[in-house]
Amino acid sequence: MLVEKNVSLQACNTFGIAASADTLVRVRSAQDVQDVLADPLLARQPMFVLGGGSNIVLTGDVQPLVLKMEIQGRRLLEETPRGWIIEVGAGENWHDTVAWTLAQGWPGLENLALIPGTVGAAPVQNIGAYGVELQDRFHSLVAIDLHSGEPFMLDAAQCAFGYRDSVFKHRAPAGQQGAPRGMGLAGRAIITHVRLWCPKDWRPELGYLDLEKKRQEAGIAQPSAQQIFEWVCEVRRAKLPDPAVVGNAGSFFKNPTVSPEQCLDIIARDPKVVHYPLPDGSIKLAAGWLIDACGWKGKRVGKAGVYDRQALVLVNRGTPDDSVTGGEVMTLARAIQTSVYERFGIRLEPEPVVV
Ligand code: EPU
Repeated sequence: MLVEKNVSLQACNTFGIAASADTLVRVRSAQDVQDVLADPLLARQPMFVLGGGSNIVLTGDVQPLVLKMEIQGRRLLEETPRGWIIEVGAGENWHDTVAWTLAQGWPGLENLALIPGTVGAAPVQNIGAYGVELQDRFHSLVAIDLHSGEPFMLDAAQCAFGYRDSVFKHRAPAGQQGAPRGMGLAGRAIITHVRLWCPKDWRPELGYLDLEKKRQEAGIAQPSAQQIFEWVCEVRRAKLPDPAVVGNAGSFFKNPTVSPEQCLDIIARDPKVVHYPLPDGSIKLAAGWLIDACGWKGKRVGKAGVYDRQALVLVNRGTPDDSVTGGEVMTLARAIQTSVYERFGIRLEPEPVVV
């Protein structure tokens, strides 16, 4: 176990925010977690699990003990008549894992190409893109309870996946730290391995307009998973900033869901509002469109900016030596929330975890 003091986290968060961890442990095996829990000083501290840092906003130095997930390894766990179950170390890079599964001939993850971050972070926010969410390709995960040290497994139902949501984004109610695991695992568990499911009866998922356009342009009736992977990479590169070049945490707000009545009210305010009916009768609105309609695209507040090709993404307009602060990002986020609320009566909910 490697314990480091006063570690810069600037390279460990895709926003590139300058902040430090008071104490950081690199977790390279399940044994490292057990060693932390057996250490009388470390075990008593509150803990914060850090993956690829692609979905966090650091608003200051991190006082809790940072467990930096670095467990590697990818293997075929089982082949069944219906598909392949792959077990991946939580510290593996997500996109590299997607590319690796396709190279093995196991389709299913291609729509989730180029999503930044680690495999262990994928279930936390139930990553999703172009009509596929992690929960559609999830088998189970292995985690360690940070209170008892006990390893445990969760299936999809136990993860309580929702839109950019899971049991790992919620804390157990105060005073109920020993509550059943279904009540919230934020700060209480560390995911060590994720098992993914690649189906043998794979069919391309092309319901998303951008991909359907690519298919028509290419004139390919039955694209392969590898072909879709390449289209998804092209679409994302055209729309979303590469965190290695411009710091960001992907979509900053969730797409809100409203009732048909609320949607009619918004259409009355602006008939061009982008909206999609959902199977349950509610209506999803494009948060990026709402923000764009309020005139935010390309705007800056201090060193925090709104990306000029996609208003849903907030970006770091500072330099590595003079980077945006988490405070500036949150000030911009609040200003956006206020103007969207005043114009459309909709409260946007931030998507990344604010630390
Ligand atoms: N739009 C605008 N102006 C903008 C941005 C978007 O008018 O500045 C309009 C677009 O023209 C489109 C609609 O809003 O009609 C939706 O935009 P887009 O297709 O780009 O998708 P999104 O809803 O903004 C979501 C996810 C992304 C995911 C894409 C593709 C959320 C919060 N975001 O974005 O996920 O890659 O769909 O599936 O659900 C992420 O979570 O970090 C992320 C990037």
